[in-house]
Amino acid sequence: MKAKMALAKDFKLAKVDERIFGSFIEHLGRAVYNGIYEPTHPTADDQGFRKDVLELVRKLNVPIVRYPGGNFVSGYRWEDGIGDKATRPVRTDLAWSTIETNQVGIDEFQEWAKRANTQVMMAVNLGTRGVEEARNVIEYCNLQKGTYYSDLRVKNGFEQPFGIKTWCLGNEMDGPWQIGSKTAMEYGRLACETAKVMKWVDPTIELVACGSSSRYMDTFGRWESTVLEQCYDHVDFLSLHAYYGNPKNDTPNFLACSNNMDAYIREAVATCDYVKAIKRSNKQLYISFDEWNVWFHSNEQDKKIERWSIAPPLLEDIYTFEDALVVGCLLITLLQHSDRVKMACLAQLVNVIAPIMTENGGSAWAQTIFYPFFHASNYGRGTVLQSVIDSPCYSSPDFGDAAYLHAVPVWDEQEQTLTVFAVNRSMEESVQLALDLRDFEGYRLCEHTVLNHNDMKAVNSAACPNEVVPASLPIDFDGNEIALPAHSWNVLRFKKQ
Ligand code: AHR
Repeated sequence: MKAKMALAKDFKLAKVDERIFGSFIEHLGRAVYNGIYEPTHPTADDQGFRKDVLELVRKLNVPIVRYPGGNFVSGYRWEDGIGDKATRPVRTDLAWSTIETNQVGIDEFQEWAKRANTQVMMAVNLGTRGVEEARNVIEYCNLQKGTYYSDLRVKNGFEQPFGIKTWCLGNEMDGPWQIGSKTAMEYGRLACETAKVMKWVDPTIELVACGSSSRYMDTFGRWESTVLEQCYDHVDFLSLHAYYGNPKNDTPNFLACSNNMDAYIREAVATCDYVKAIKRSNKQLYISFDEWNVWFHSNEQDKKIERWSIAPPLLEDIYTFEDALVVGCLLITLLQHSDRVKMACLAQLVNVIAPIMTENGGSAWAQTIFYPFFHASNYGRGTVLQSVIDSPCYSSPDFGDAAYLHAVPVWDEQEQTLTVFAVNRSMEESVQLALDLRDFEGYRLCEHTVLNHNDMKAVNSAACPNEVVPASLPIDFDGNEIALPAHSWNVLRFKKQ
């Protein structure tokens, strides 16, 4: 089938905020314990962090990692995770019915983040706690010294403040499953008061207010407007969360789910701008899509996990090749909204619905979804251009009409590199893509990387970690058309010669 894409240097959508390639580590299952932290592992460093995992995380080039939850944060006492490890309390985690040993807390996590070349995006507990604890934790993390909590940090061995710039005001507070969930009005008021106080302690921070935990929540829309009417002036981002699955085993339908993300972002942006209008505000709010991924494979397995165990294998989705295509589609959609989506977190990073898997005491490997994220994060920095795409469409039962070609161009003006990320959603046919690059004189295609497999359900595993890996195709571009294989993720890299 044939498709066309036209782009021009002057039609810029936005500069990509690199934090759109963020991720997430929650105290959940084996994300922290036996994921990033396993002191007895052969590759453990002086702090007990797995070096094999750190290496994979660094490859992903993740600029920011949300921590410590997720649902976990709504019952968390941050003070449990600081100071002498021997005296830290062991507690029940009611979010996941597990035992939390507190051997890792913010003291350790900020150290891990340095080693992973990333920043921490910290969430405060607005489920069981509130203004007072939020004020204390930011004092502990960000003030120099000379106050109770900053001196406590120094006493714990950290002379320099952690300097955490981005903070989430709770997590999914609209969800009845959340410890201490709230009505929109209750949460909006609490978010407002907490935000004020946190910025009084450190005016340089940026704050994220909870939007809906899914577009399918009955309260979606009204939740956002009510919350923002309360806290608009004090926050910088609205969060969105979305997970997708393929329970009906309908691959073309599944591949169209990025339509849902697209509509969700548009609706949330419209709601932010509605509140901006009624407040006669000049301030622009941005979206932090701080949980997104495919999540459904582990649902049944998780029902069998015994309660009150330490680091059980929860939410361990084993990702297929088709999941990688969906992650590619979702990344393209996020980039297409880079004018308003300034942060996003692939949820999560290690073991828990993650691109990186580990065996306790054993190997670490990249799941299928690792690769589109790796490509987007490493080559998707620059300016997103507004392209015009002309592609045949198909109709999906759950997500409406979807174009076979889903694509976005990112231009790195400094490096003189143009990258086109493209998914061909057709199960049968290759797409002959006519690329109108008349504005990019002197640019030549120098790389065509493809992720493709003839089995949509192919997976990577400890025994077979390279079943689904990207390959370089021979350069076959006559300056006009290029073939994108059926059901494939493509990275086309053009460089000025
Ligand atoms: O990422 C897993 C869970 O999904 C998070 O804890 C929660 O915020 C969301 O519901």
